[in-house]
This record gives sequence, structure tokens and C-alpha cells, in this order.
Amino acid sequence: MCGIVGYIGKKQAYPILINGLYRLEYRGYDSAGVAIVNKDLKLYKTKGKVADLEKHVQGQDVSGNVGIAHTRWATHGEPNDVNAHPHYSPSGKMAMIHNGIIENYAALKEELTNRGYTFTSDTDTEVLIHLIEDIKVNEKVDVVEALQTALNQVVGAYAIVLISEDEPDTLIAARKGSPLVVGVGDGDFYLASDATPIVEHTKDVVYLNDEEIAILKPGSDLQIRTISNQVKTPYLEKLEMSLSAIAKGGFPHFMLKEIYEQPRSIRDSMRGRISVDKDIVSLGGLKDYEDKLVNAKRIILVACGTSWHAGLVGEYMLESMARIPVEVEYASEFRYRKPVIYEDDVVIAISQSGETADTIAAITMAKEKGATILGICNVVGSTIARITDAGSFTHAGPEIGVASTKAFTAQVVILVQMALMIAKKKGSITKSQFHEMVYQLDMIPSKIEEALKVNDLIKEISEKYKNSPNALYLGRGVNYPVALEGALKLKEISYIHAEGYPAAEMKHGPIALIDEDMPVVVIATKYGTYDKIISNIQEVKARKGKIIAVVTKGDKEVRKMADYVIEIPETDEMLVPLVATIPLQLLSYHIAVLRGCNVDQPRNLAKSVTVE
Ligand code: G6P
Repeated sequence: MCGIVGYIGKKQAYPILINGLYRLEYRGYDSAGVAIVNKDLKLYKTKGKVADLEKHVQGQDVSGNVGIAHTRWATHGEPNDVNAHPHYSPSGKMAMIHNGIIENYAALKEELTNRGYTFTSDTDTEVLIHLIEDIKVNEKVDVVEALQTALNQVVGAYAIVLISEDEPDTLIAARKGSPLVVGVGDGDFYLASDATPIVEHTKDVVYLNDEEIAILKPGSDLQIRTISNQVKTPYLEKLEMSLSAIAKGGFPHFMLKEIYEQPRSIRDSMRGRISVDKDIVSLGGLKDYEDKLVNAKRIILVACGTSWHAGLVGEYMLESMARIPVEVEYASEFRYRKPVIYEDDVVIAISQSGETADTIAAITMAKEKGATILGICNVVGSTIARITDAGSFTHAGPEIGVASTKAFTAQVVILVQMALMIAKKKGSITKSQFHEMVYQLDMIPSKIEEALKVNDLIKEISEKYKNSPNALYLGRGVNYPVALEGALKLKEISYIHAEGYPAAEMKHGPIALIDEDMPVVVIATKYGTYDKIISNIQEVKARKGKIIAVVTKGDKEVRKMADYVIEIPETDEMLVPLVATIPLQLLSYHIAVLRGCNVDQPRNLAKSVTVE
């Protein structure tokens, strides 16, 4: 939540900052602001998006070689001009941007108020910058020392960047719990919540660790100290991201581009990991943990949102192939309900961003209890990727659309590879079953290419149902999480209320909602429970509900009953979610576009939820 950018060097800061904000807008878009030091500190901010900020500063002096900028997802204080970042210090000589939550801000604010300070905003950020300046003035120390003292009093999460009129040649940043990357340029420095604003300027980056402070002075080496003043040697890494990976590439929206990228992203998620000819599935990052996985008494998958749905698909795969009991937990529930965790449990965090606060907290707790902690992440260098014992990257490439698409299928691909790898080693599937699964998995990218051809039909269906106030999604077995994911996609980007349900459970409640206005999306592919799902379709039809069915190519039975039939190519039952998800992604996309919704930046949402 919230995107932060900083620059210090020889170039003009403003264009770099604005470009950076556009790249990070997926993290929040309630308000935006920028502060630049050029002798004086100039600060502009406004409610709305980055484009509104650009309009707001038109005609203003934005010259200067050092600056900070912010795009906000509101936590403390409603989204308005005043609560927008940056926030001034009491003297107006310093400004700060912040991503995270200062949990003890109310107590700190009360203390500062009692000492005569006044506040213009409702934010926790303004409290922190007041505290920093208070320490700086009263203890007569420099900004870094004041920051260290202040951060030692703070409870919560932060990624912050500070500029000061008094020290115009220094940019100071710190992190704990919220991400921050430093780009090391040619005598200049870039700062951002993730690497996307940095990649076009430099490939050399340093990911800050918790409680580290970066001191950036143009022409000098990057200095890192901890909040307890230990000096750290920066660990320079090379960015592997390309600029084209973060552009729309001719598509009207990132979401559509990312849906169409799936044949490629899935190939990348399997590259070098499977071989049909050699009957191999091997996840390099988990090599040293294969025995742990094979011998695990239990696997616990923790995640949020769409990643949780991928976990549910993984549960079916791991249990059916690897024969290990699996629990799939919402990270936010898991961490607070005193779960029973054993040392021989393997806890796997699934996270696109690798920065979701609840998921981080859940695995931190499980680690303390002695479990093995693994990660399935998309973002290299992210917090989860760094704090887990080992893991596997999804290699889906940057996902910018707030609604997750290609990250979901890539997560499922990692989970199926994990299940196969364990199953083979454990002997829980036969050689021929293993071979057939690897063969089918290898063909998934081309099956997705075929599934994408339903786009025109989906547009037609979307036109028909775009004004429905509700929708029901039904699936059974491994397609139940697909129904959940389809419903989530529709509600998050089109604001239509949608529910995913196990088809058989429909009779225990949702059936009461069915009438001639209710579209019911049913995943009715030809497997074990096919006959049962046909009965469920009949139950819906008997109540005049409208059926949109996702079926296996060539299906004749469901066609007789459904209002619309979407065919997908045949594959192994366990792999159906990878293909069946595609038309549901397209359905939500087209309905949202027809309703005039902002597909890539749906209201109230943010891509990376770095607060609890
Ligand atoms: C937010 C995003 C979702 C995502 C979820 C979990 O809600 O909008 O698309 O699935 O967070 O994020 P993660 O990065 O941990 O997968």
C-alpha cells in the first residue's frame, strides 16, 4: 500500500519522481504528492491520482535535484488533500513520505500535543516527522541521529524517506516491514517501494533490510546504518527486470496484457524445471528441502486474496498426488488464532508481491515455532523471498494490474510441480502417472493459447450480463477454488456482487437467490463429479437461473442445458484450473470495461497490502 519514490543526483528530480509514481500507482491511488528541495523546500499534494497531481503542479516551480514523491492508499485519515503525503515537519524545513502504519501514533501524538505541537492532518506520518524534528531540535543532533532515536520509539511498520532544507545534499530513508529499494546510479541514487521506477535508470540495486537506514549523498558511496547505529555493507544486486515487462505492450489495460501473457509466464515458471523426455520435475530453489517436504507430516499453505485461492488448488494437488495432509490458511486468521504448529510442519507462504503484511507475520510466527518456512513468490528481492528458508519464484514477470491473473496461474504451476516432485520421490504416484502428468503440464501453455480464443464469445456474454447485480460461480473438487477466484475477479474490478460456491453446497443457501435474473457460472469439465454437476445445473435451470458453463471441448450434455457454453481444451483433471481460469478472467475483464470501471486500478483496492 502506498508507493514511494525518491531521487538525489545531478538530474532534475521531478520527471523521475512523477514517472516513478505512475509505475507505483498500483499500490494506491487515493492521493499523491511531491516535495523537492532547491534551496527551499517546495511541496505539492492533492487528493486523486498521479495525473491529478501533475495538473495540480502545472505552472509551479518544480526544479531541483533532490525530491520525494508518494501515491497513497489511505489508512489513517480519509483520502483528501491534507492527509496526502509528503508531510511537513513543524518548522516546514523537512518533509517525509511513509508507507506503513505507526501503531503507537496516538500515544506519540498525545505526548507531542501536550508539549504544544499542532497537527494539520489525521495521519500517523505527520506524528512521526514531528517527533523526528522535536528530537533533532531538542537534542541538537543531525537528522540521522534524530531518526534513529525516533524509530526506536515507534511500534509498527514503515518505509520512509525524508528530505530537509538544512541538509539539501542528503536523502535519508529507512524501512521496517514495508519494502524499500535503493537504485545506485552514476553518482546519483533512486529510491522506490519496488524496482519498477528504478529499472530504466540503473540495474544496480540494494534492498534495504528491516531497521536499516540508507543515507544517500550524490557522488558518495551508499551508506547504510541500522537504527541502533551499526554500520552495514550494502549488498548490491543486479535487476533482471526489463522495461518492456512493465509496459502495456499495445494492450488497453495491464490486466488484459497479463491475461494474454499467461502462455509465456507459465512457460517461464516451468523453464528448466520440467523435462518430459527425462521424466524430471525439479525446483532448484527447493533442492535442499526436498527431504523435508517428502517427510512432512503436514503442509500449511498461508496466503491472502488470490494467492489463497492458488493455495486451495494446491491443496487438491498435493493431497491427491503427494498424499500429504494440507491446510490452507488465510494468513490474517492463522496468525491470530494460536494455531498448533509442529517442528515437522512445512509452512509455505504464497504471495505475488512477497510483501503482504499478514503473510509475513504468519510465517514469522511459524518460524518462531520451529517449522520449516518456504515461499512461492513472484517478486525477487521481496521480504517473503528473503525471510523464508528457501523457495521457488514464479517468474511470471511484474504484475501491474491490481486484479491478479498471471501470478495466480504461475503459483498453481509451482504448486503442481511441487506436488509432482514430492510424489515421485515418495513413490505416491506410479511412473506412468508421473510421466502423463508432466506431459500434460508441458502442454498447458498451448492449451491456454487455445483457451484465449474464446475472447469474442466472452465479450458477447459480458454484453448480456454486464448489468446483473449479482452472480454465482459454482465448481466442484479442484474447480471449486476456480469458482472462488472467478467470483473474486468479477467483484473486485466490476463491483458486481459475486459469490463462489462448491456446487453441491448451493442447495444449502445460495439456491434461494436463484431466479431468472441470476447468472450462474458453472465450471463443468468432464471429470469425476461431472454427473453431479450436471444435476446442479438442472437445479439452477429448474429455478430459471441463467447458466454460463465452462466445459471440456466437445461436450454435448451441458450444451443442452446452458445458456452459454465456453469450451476449453481437455487436460488432466488436476490441471483444469490452469485453463478454466482463463475465460473467467476474460469475463470479469470485459464486464468491467463495459461498465466503465477502472480495470487496472479498482476502487479501494491496492496490489500490495503492506498493512494488516
Ligand atoms: C491484494 C491484491 C490481490 C492479491 C492479494 C495478496 O488484495 O489486490 O490481487 O491476491 O493482495 O497479495 P500477494 O502479493 O501476497 O499475493
